[in-house]
Amino acid sequence: MARGNRLLWITSVAAAALAGSPDPGIARQSQAAVETPRQPAQSPKETRLARGKYLVEHVGICLYCHSEIDWKAPGFPQIEGAKGGGAVFPDKSVPGLVVSRNITPQALGDCTDEQIARAIREGSGCDGTRLFPVMPYHFFRAMSDDDVAAVVAYVRALPPVKRELPANKIPDEVWASLPPPESITAPVVAPARSDKAAYGRYLTTIGLCVECHTPVDQRGAPIPGLTFAGGRVFDGPWGRVAGANLTPDPSGIPYYDEALFRQVLHTCKVKARELNHIMPCEYFKGLTDEDVSAIFAFLRTLPPVAHDVSNIDDPTPCRRCGQPHGLGERNEPVPPAP
Ligand code: HEC
Ligand code: HEC
Repeated sequence: MARGNRLLWITSVAAAALAGSPDPGIARQSQAAVETPRQPAQSPKETRLARGKYLVEHVGICLYCHSEIDWKAPGFPQIEGAKGGGAVFPDKSVPGLVVSRNITPQALGDCTDEQIARAIREGSGCDGTRLFPVMPYHFFRAMSDDDVAAVVAYVRALPPVKRELPANKIPDEVWASLPPPESITAPVVAPARSDKAAYGRYLTTIGLCVECHTPVDQRGAPIPGLTFAGGRVFDGPWGRVAGANLTPDPSGIPYYDEALFRQVLHTCKVKARELNHIMPCEYFKGLTDEDVSAIFAFLRTLPPVAHDVSNIDDPTPCRRCGQPHGLGERNEPVPPAP
């Protein structure tokens, strides 16, 4: 891929701006509330593992990127026995060759919990090397200490997978252009579930909705003013498809109600229209109704952003997000900052 092409990474500053900073005050009171609903006979260890499974399998879509996928089969399933074993990242926009690593105990057996947590939230690999930000650590940075501990527990419990993977081939100048890694030095807590919209925002960050539904510029940085307004293009074995505008603008999803939203996340069908399954419904179908409701409540608080995006019409240049996509011709350029 040519240098200067759209890259699937963004600066952590921009990611933080997209994610919003959680209010530690509210969140601290509610650590217990963040866990999965408890079942009576579960030990704390089982509860943590169940929470980790939920986050890995249904929220953070870890295994979509970290498993070999059958892109020819409907719904793009993981290949049997390859779960967590790593895979070549197939989106054409990445510079060079990006390979997700094997995250099963086969590869991470000697790493400490702390090292795995740092890989997830800070982008420092277990071997101390820096991770390329296709691994979405800029978003997982928002993951609470409890949640990342649960994710680590579940990753450690995956069945070991033995696999040969090619090495990353990322041009030096791309590495050099990345912002320096940032450590997490203060406790990270999730917002209280009772603050539905705030908890929904948390889920849209660690569930990467904001990453896939915000268009990026040539350098991979989100375009100001277009948060959740769609138009980010995904080009790979699944086809060429743009993320949808999720804001309540007439060009977004103003007509959705919670029932339709739940149906879309669980089935990838918007009434009769079937979505491309690069939208990770196969994973989101396990989202609880409570979490779906929180995400919907949060999306309803977004300012409407006018940005027509369609995957039914042929791509045309868009002066708003800079990426050609269906109905691109309808969009005006972003007004210059005052
Ligand atoms: C969009 C794709 C993507 C998603 C989603 C993703 N990862 Fe990754 N991950 C990667 C890539 C690519 C790398 C390797 C980057 C590199 O080698 O520079 C990586 C690296 C890692 C590493 C470092 C392994 C090592 O050897 O140090 C861990 C641990 C990890 N990911 C865990 C997770 C977990 C847990 C989740 C979900 C909460 C997750 N990843 C979600 C793409 C992804
Ligand atoms: C890996 C990227 C990716 C992630 C992560 C992702 N989406 Fe999507 N989403 C897409 C793409 C691409 C489409 C457009 C699919 C199509 O039109 O066929 C889409 C479509 C949708 C639609 C349908 C809109 C419509 O009516 O046309 C909704 C709703 C949606 N996403 C919500 C979400 C939510 C909520 C999350 C997080 C919980 C999320 N998405 C995470 C890529 C993603």
